Amino acid sequence: MERITDTLKILNEEDKQNLDNARISVDESNDGKRKLYIESYGCQMNFADSEIVASILRDNGFATTSKYEDAELILLNTCAIRDNAEQKVRNRLQHLIPIKKKNPLVKIGVLGCMAERLKAKLLEEEKVVDMVVGPDAYRDLPRLVEEAETGQKAVNVFLSREETYADITPIRLDSNGVTAFISIMRGCDNMCSFCVVPYTRGRERSRDPHSIVKEATDLFNQGYREVTLLGQNVDSYKWSPENSENAESVNFAQLLEMVALVNPDLRIRFSTSHPKDITDEVLYTMKKYENICKYIHLPAQSGSTRILELMNRTYTREWYINKIDRIREILGEECGISQDIIAGFCTETEEDHQETLSLLEYVKYDYGYMFAYSERPNTPAAKKLKDDIAEDVKKRRLNEIIALQQRLSFERNKLAVGKVHKVLVEGFSKRSNEHLQGRNDQNKVVVFPKEHFKKGDYVNVFVTDCTAATLIGHSVTEELV
Ligand code: 5AD
Ligand code: SF4
Repeated sequence: MERITDTLKILNEEDKQNLDNARISVDESNDGKRKLYIESYGCQMNFADSEIVASILRDNGFATTSKYEDAELILLNTCAIRDNAEQKVRNRLQHLIPIKKKNPLVKIGVLGCMAERLKAKLLEEEKVVDMVVGPDAYRDLPRLVEEAETGQKAVNVFLSREETYADITPIRLDSNGVTAFISIMRGCDNMCSFCVVPYTRGRERSRDPHSIVKEATDLFNQGYREVTLLGQNVDSYKWSPENSENAESVNFAQLLEMVALVNPDLRIRFSTSHPKDITDEVLYTMKKYENICKYIHLPAQSGSTRILELMNRTYTREWYINKIDRIREILGEECGISQDIIAGFCTETEEDHQETLSLLEYVKYDYGYMFAYSERPNTPAAKKLKDDIAEDVKKRRLNEIIALQQRLSFERNKLAVGKVHKVLVEGFSKRSNEHLQGRNDQNKVVVFPKEHFKKGDYVNVFVTDCTAATLIGHSVTEELV
C-alpha cells in the first residue's frame, strides 16, 4: 500500500467557516507515476468526491502531490453554494496562470459544483482552464485528461440518475487514520429556494447499503474508529434493490443499524439531516446503539415561519421546535444539536430576525454554521424574490446570530464540565504535542494531557474546564456516568 501522509492544510486561515476552506491533496509515494494536485472547496461531500477522483486517476497512472508546482495535472474541486466560494476559485485560477505559462503541458481542470453550474461558459471566462467536469462525470476523467492533452478543451457535465461511485474505493487524502467519511447518497430533491445544490448535484440517489457496510468494515480493519455517513439529506436515504421483487428496501434507520453492527468500537456519525425527514425510527436507532453518536446537525435556516415558507423548507417554526423536543425526549438533553442559519434572506424583517435569535435561545444549539444570504443565479429565490436586504444589514444580523451562538456554545460546553466523557483520540492538540485531541459523543473537541495514549484510542476524560469551542480535562480510569 502506498503511504499517504496525514497533512491537512487549511489555506485560508481567516475564513472561519469550514465550508469555505480549501483542502489540498497529499504526497503519495509516486514511483514513476504522473503527479496530480487536487484542491477541494466546499462541503464534506466534495472532499469525499476528491478521494474518489484520486482513486479513479490512480488507476490511470497518477499519484497525488501537495505541491501544485510539481504537478502535471491540477484539479480544483469547487463549490458554488455562495458567491464568495466561487470568487475564491476564480482567484485561485488567476494564480495558476504563471504556472501554465511556464509549462504549457500542465493541464488544469475545474471539477464539482461550480463546473456543473457554469458548464462550458467557464472555459470562456477563465482561459487557463482546460477541463470542466461535473460531479457525476468523474469516471470519464481519464478520457477527458487525454482529450485535454491533445490541446482541446474537455467538458463533461452530464448529471446522472444512477451514479453513486459505489464500487470505487476512495483514497483517503487528508486522513488522520482514525475518522473517515462515507458518501451514502448523492444529489438532492428538496428544492430549498435559496440553494444551488439540486442543479449542481442533480437528483437524489442512494448507494447500495452493502457497499457502504463493506467500506465501513474495511475502514475498521485498517484501524479507523469513526465513520461519518454523508449525504445532502441522509434521512431520505432509500435503497431498493433492482431486479428482485421480494427483496426489501433499506431506509436510513436500517442503514444506520447495519453500519452500527459492523463493530461496537466503530463510531457512527451522519450529516446532514433535514428536519422534515428525520424520523422517530432514526432517533430510536440512535438510542439503541451506543456507538451511534448522539449528535444531530439539523439546519433550521430561519426561525420565522414566513421566511421558512419563502425558503420552501416545508416546515414551520413550531414544527421544527417539536422536532427538537422529540430529539430531547428520546435521546436526552445531552444530545448534541447544531444548526445552519441564513441571515438576511429576501424580505427578512427585524421581527423575522428576532425570531431566528429566539429559536437559537430555545434550542440552545451546541454549534452552528451561519451565513449571509448570497443569491445564486437561476435558483427559485433568484427568479421569484428580490435580494432586498442591504449587505450591511445582512452582516449585522449575521454577527448577532454568531455572537449568540458563541454564548450558547459556551453555555452548552459548561454543562459538560464535571463529567466523564468517552473521547476518541484523533491526534495531537493543535497547540501542544504534550496534549491529545479528540471528540466526545456530542462532537465536542476535547483536549487532555497525552500520558501513554495514542491516536485511535478511546479515553475516558474528566472535563474540568471549557471554552466556547473546546472541553479541557484529564484521563480517568473510572467508567462514564
Ligand atoms: N446563501 C447563503 N447560504 C446558503 N446555504 C445554502 N445556500 C445558500 C445561499 N444561497 C447554506 C445553508 C445550507 C448550508 C450548507 O449553506 O444554510 O444548509
Ligand atoms: Fe458546495 Fe453544496 Fe456543492 Fe457541497 S454540494 S460543494 S456545499 S455547492
